[in-house]
Amino acid sequence: MQATLTAWSIRRYGGPEQLVAVERPMPVPGPTEVLIRVHASAVTRADGMMRAGLPRFSRPFLGLRRPRNDLSGTGLSGVVIAAGADVTRFAVGDAVFGEAGLRFGANASHICLDEGGVLLRKPESLSHEQAAVMCDGPLTSWHFLRNLGELRAGERVLILGGSGSLGSAAVQIAADLGAEVTATSSARNAGLVADLGAARVIDYTREDFREDGRRYDVIFDTIGVSSFAAARGSLGRAGRYLCPVLTPGLLVSVLRTSLFGRREARFAAAGLQAPEKLRAMLAELLAMVEAGTLAPVLDRVYPLSDLAEAHRYMEAGHKRGNVVLA
Ligand SMILES: NC(=O)c1ccc[n+]([C@@H]2O[C@H](COP(=O)([O-])OP(=O)(O)OC[C@H]3O[C@@H](n4cnc5c(N)ncnc54)[C@H](OP(=O)(O)O)[C@@H]3O)[C@@H](O)[C@H]2O)c1
Repeated sequence: MQATLTAWSIRRYGGPEQLVAVERPMPVPGPTEVLIRVHASAVTRADGMMRAGLPRFSRPFLGLRRPRNDLSGTGLSGVVIAAGADVTRFAVGDAVFGEAGLRFGANASHICLDEGGVLLRKPESLSHEQAAVMCDGPLTSWHFLRNLGELRAGERVLILGGSGSLGSAAVQIAADLGAEVTATSSARNAGLVADLGAARVIDYTREDFREDGRRYDVIFDTIGVSSFAAARGSLGRAGRYLCPVLTPGLLVSVLRTSLFGRREARFAAAGLQAPEKLRAMLAELLAMVEAGTLAPVLDRVYPLSDLAEAHRYMEAGHKRGNVVLA
């Protein structure tokens, strides 16, 4: 009998009901590929957008009516169970984590990935569940704060949405860097955000960060709840407004502020960089993990069979940190 893997296919763009469990032939790793038994995979906002086919302008690249690569999921952690003849970085038995990128298919029992992709050895200090989410919140927030925002020790940073996947990682990264961290969250999550390293927490359900007269060097709007125009008055002289949620308004602000004025709006698609750059950033994040200054925050863990349910929870907008399948 032919061996198969279990994965989730996106029938057509739409809600979580479009996710269908499928069996596919077990892939045989090519010369530079490894076959991984997946122990945990991430369920992220980006996965939800991919499933919904949003933003619509991404469809010419991803597939017009349904995703060209139909499988769901990017972030994963697992163990190498077979390796191609030319593989040098990994061996059978290695625990690894990383992301499938535009190949997708991480929400599965197995996956084949190239050793030259975004794949690293998993340290013992990270569980498979934690490692599976490293390429979402931690990697994105690292890129936004360190590379895009050029946040430095001693600077003041405001993190909007401190309890989400990006926000919970951003608070830890900014605190580790020696920045003075303020974050917004609801009262329910204020303790978590303070424990992660925020010196001040603003309850977004009761207070407006713009009303206390404080100025920040960097405002990282992790969930796109503000805008450059709205946040501008809370930025210092050369303040940077960073937002990972692309909208036409943000795009206009990024273009306009790159030409005029000292305060800037900045956006990036963190995961679209070259694998070696992403691996280098992950190595920096692993150093934080080893030093005990970064621990990915886990919310719910669902079995692989409950991906649709996990998508519904993730998209309700109230997760604390990350959702995974394991
Ligand atoms: N550009 C890139 O490279 C890139 C990469 C990855 C992700 N992204 C994008 O980044 C965004 C953030 O993703 P995420 O996974 O971090 O979000 P998330 O985890 O889903 O955010 C949920 C959290 O936000 C809090 N929240 C909701 N409304 C809030 C408000 N008005 N003020 C403050 N906190 C609020 C919620 O707390 P309560 O329950 O207490 O309300 C909850 O803890 C997504 O749009 C995703 O697509 C972009």
